[in-house]
Amino acid sequence: MDVLEKLKAKLKDINVRAGKIRELPVDERAEFGKKINAEREAVLAEIADAERKMLDTEVEPIDVTAWSGVNEKLPEFYSVEMGSKHPLMTELDRVVDIYQMMGFDVVESRQLDDEYHMFDSLNFAKEHPARDGYDTFRTEEGLIPPAHTSTMQHRVLKAYKSRLDEGKAIAVVVPGRVFRNEDVDATHEHTFYQCEGVYVSETCTMGDMLGILREFFEKYYEQKLNIRTQPGYFPFTEPSLEFLIEKPKTLGGKKGDFLEMLGCGMIHPNVLKMAGIDPTKYHGFAWGGGIDRLVMLRYGLNDVRDFESGNLNFLREF
Ligand code: DAH
Repeated sequence: MDVLEKLKAKLKDINVRAGKIRELPVDERAEFGKKINAEREAVLAEIADAERKMLDTEVEPIDVTAWSGVNEKLPEFYSVEMGSKHPLMTELDRVVDIYQMMGFDVVESRQLDDEYHMFDSLNFAKEHPARDGYDTFRTEEGLIPPAHTSTMQHRVLKAYKSRLDEGKAIAVVVPGRVFRNEDVDATHEHTFYQCEGVYVSETCTMGDMLGILREFFEKYYEQKLNIRTQPGYFPFTEPSLEFLIEKPKTLGGKKGDFLEMLGCGMIHPNVLKMAGIDPTKYHGFAWGGGIDRLVMLRYGLNDVRDFESGNLNFLREF
């Protein structure tokens, strides 16, 4: 037995004896306690001393699996770098923060859905060519990695409709990842991000929607913006609009340089009805647009493929 082990055995013995204090007559306990505590302190000090001595003399352990000397500098390829948040996720947080400040709840989208939520519940007629406009992937089981965050609209309406009974509005945004079977180029990716907005109340109007969208874009780009709308077509809104902003000078835009940022419109009565909301009593509007495009404009990026490329030189710029 080495010194340290002997001391530890001694400590154990002291502790065992100390535990017997209750078997002693009451008037002897104080004296006994003092004595045993002093003994314990002394042994603890000896143990600390022995441990310190051991550390001083201990030889540095050798890692036999190490490729080189312990203190030698590692070659470049061995170096470990701290990771960081992907720029799209940082920006998505910013987007969601702005909407939250405006009073919206946040519901995350999903990455696998079905025909009903992706199309039927959004008033896409069966066999209608509009279904082909979304370049949807399908799994062998017939499920769909959603091509837009609108796939969540029906769920959001159902989950939040009790708000209407309480005299409140439904106000929810849905960020999420979406997928399209597209030819990939500098402006098209098979995987990208969108953010959807859904608002329903008894009194809301399209003017409210345009106000919310203007506020959002002006907060996001941190400046006043010129906005414009043009007619669009989506089966789930009537009327439907495309929402454009004039590319700000600070971001390299010229006058009249309008960019389409998202699709929007008044929620189609059929969509409300399918979620159990009375369209003669309530109105709603909804919108959805790409996050990647939003971020590309903010940072002057010109190739959407960089986001999913895993190219560290690109990611390190953020
Ligand atoms: N889901 C549409 C798309 O990806 C965008 C959109 C348009 C969303 C109109 C909406 C909307 O909520 O009301 O092209």
